Amino acid sequence: MTQLAREGHYDIEVDGETRVVIDPALVTLGEPYHDSKYKVFETLSEGRRMMMGDDPRLPKMPEKPGLLDFFRYRLAKTAINHLLQSAALARRSGQPEKIVLACLLHDIAIGGLIPGDHGYWGAQLIEPYVEEEVSWAVRHHQAVRFFADDSVGYSCPAAYEYFFGPGYVPPPYIHDAYKAARAHRWYMSARLITLNDLYAFDPNTTVDMEEFEDVIGRNFRQPKEGLGFDGSPSAHMWRAMIWPHNAL
Ligand SMILES: [Fe+2]
Ligand SMILES: [Fe+2]
Repeated sequence: MTQLAREGHYDIEVDGETRVVIDPALVTLGEPYHDSKYKVFETLSEGRRMMMGDDPRLPKMPEKPGLLDFFRYRLAKTAINHLLQSAALARRSGQPEKIVLACLLHDIAIGGLIPGDHGYWGAQLIEPYVEEEVSWAVRHHQAVRFFADDSVGYSCPAAYEYFFGPGYVPPPYIHDAYKAARAHRWYMSARLITLNDLYAFDPNTTVDMEEFEDVIGRNFRQPKEGLGFDGSPSAHMWRAMIWPHNAL
């Protein structure tokens, strides 16, 4: 097994001083320095402190950020393209706005938060602001996408074989979640996400995120305090994207 030379922390310059950025536990679990990375605290001194607050490598967020500010300033560009193209496809095929919104948000966690179990993380993130059916569909696309549905012409994406190797079998909790979703009255909403989940991006198609401002305006309850500052059960998750490298 090869191991990249990493330490679990690194330095950046902020206003002429050094700030130490520490990799979160999820990143260092399994790495040799997982248990020792906090020794870096012993190296702190005047002009060398832990990273807190605005990271100069990231665009500054507005004081009261809305959903599209996270698209503009935080989500990975590839993820944004994927989300916009999926939502555009759903809209072109005449899907209701709640499905278009679900497609627009289904992989938001991959773009800005965490990839593993991204359907669950994404659903939790948006839950306070959307109809229950939308977050339900985002949560369950996580499991549903692995299973074919001939009635709508869906088969498990060929990309998964490429990503995970031939014969990849999802773990039992995914099978259980799929079975539960299959029997649920909103099953087709999660299925529609997978049907519009584009794995082949058309480089000639660029979708403008402003095209979805109307759908967001009608279907996503933007808090007046801004996402991250309204005291909702997921406010801390939005703040994690605003200040992803805060030490504590
Ligand atoms: Fe996904
Ligand atoms: Fe996707």
